Amino acid sequence: MTKYVIRGGNPLHGEVVISGAKNAAVAIIPAALLVDGVCRIENVPQISDVTLILGILEDLGAQIRTVNRTTLDIDCSNIRKCRASYDMARQIRASYYLVGALLGRFGNAYVPMPGGCDLGARPIDQHEKGFYAMGARVQVINGYIDAKAPAGRLHGAHIYFDVVSVGATMNVMIAAVLADGLTVIENAAKEPHIVDLANFLNSMGADIMGAGTDVIKIRGVPRLCGGTYSIIPDQIEAGTYMAAVAAAGGEVTIQNIIPKHLDCISAKLIEMGVEITEVGDSLTVRRNGPLTKTNVKTLPYPGFPTDMQPQIAAVLCLAQGTSILTEGVWDNRYRFADEFRRMGANIQVDGKIAVIEGVRQLTGAPVSACDLRAGAGMIIAGLAAEGITEIDQIYHIERGYEDIVPKLAGLGADIHVETTSTEEDWHIHAV
Ligand code: EPZ
Repeated sequence: MTKYVIRGGNPLHGEVVISGAKNAAVAIIPAALLVDGVCRIENVPQISDVTLILGILEDLGAQIRTVNRTTLDIDCSNIRKCRASYDMARQIRASYYLVGALLGRFGNAYVPMPGGCDLGARPIDQHEKGFYAMGARVQVINGYIDAKAPAGRLHGAHIYFDVVSVGATMNVMIAAVLADGLTVIENAAKEPHIVDLANFLNSMGADIMGAGTDVIKIRGVPRLCGGTYSIIPDQIEAGTYMAAVAAAGGEVTIQNIIPKHLDCISAKLIEMGVEITEVGDSLTVRRNGPLTKTNVKTLPYPGFPTDMQPQIAAVLCLAQGTSILTEGVWDNRYRFADEFRRMGANIQVDGKIAVIEGVRQLTGAPVSACDLRAGAGMIIAGLAAEGITEIDQIYHIERGYEDIVPKLAGLGADIHVETTSTEEDWHIHAV
């Protein structure tokens, strides 16, 4: 068993460089399937979700060459297969983008139902509705999404989503790029990674307008050709370090970011008494005094991101007064609350609402990272807590954070990775 061990109490100081955005990378890499030629993709984060999606693409027949630590050349010209590996694709949410990409390129996709964090129900009916409107037949057979365009090629369509969905917006956008005619997506999601995917596709020859607004228009083109593209910095990784400074105290400059993407997070931290200064493509976050309570509701962009909810919850656990946290996207994103309680947090959950009464001090405890952002929240709580926090199930965290242990250690945190022998594991489970 591998776990993170944190001795809390050190304020954070120094500079941290943010990696490429996970949720942009895991869409842009499958979208490379549409490109006839070599895509050079820069600022690719080194995280396990990216390793998996690259593995799936390679299994389909893509040639992938590592240019340097963060740059890859992907050539999908010779792919002829439309069936994605069951074992790999079912481990990751973003494998659903392969449906849009394979349908768009071949008019045929056979992709396992996706996996990903357990956040409550995660339907894909809006993806299916989009593909259906574009002329595809979609059914689930033996655990696979089986999608076919009987005409061999999708056609443009007018699609009004019933809910604002990041995944459905990106998937339909990918599928529409090579379709015949104009596709209009209404009630589209507006997250920074949607704009990034559109910019990537446009740089390869697509014709997409309106990404970042709630109406996106995609005019189909006959082919995309190769080029070079650099992925945007990760909004949520940056927000996680901002929350870590807020909880542990200190002063950290967060570099290689787009400050505008962080406005929704900065606004809440400032309300709580954190100082934030913007200089070019960096933010300096400083917290010396006490934290004060605030209320937070998660919403689609430009609202406060749901993927920052457990991290802000960790900070609210230490803020004077009673804060109300409302989850506006997922049905069940409070599974971390039991783990926070082990650390002395006073948090009561009722459905989508959590009431958090700030405590003066959290105390370290053994906890489990039940999902990616919950794990990030536990790291933040552990950095601020008195004593030792041990976090297991860290594979969830490594799905989305590049080098989180060395990055935090570089800021003065007392954190390291520890691997226990299987004999010790057996003892832990037996008692
Ligand atoms: C993406 O998930 C992200 N994952 C999630 O990040 C993130 O929490 C979420 O968007 C919201 O920002 C990836 O990008 C790989 P949605 P996605 O479709 O696309 C409902 C992380 O921690 N819905 O925007 O699956 C759904 O139930 C992860 O990095 C439908 O009803 O989310 C939810 O309530 C976790 N039908 C809401 O819409 C559908 O067909 C938003 O989901 C699709 C979604």
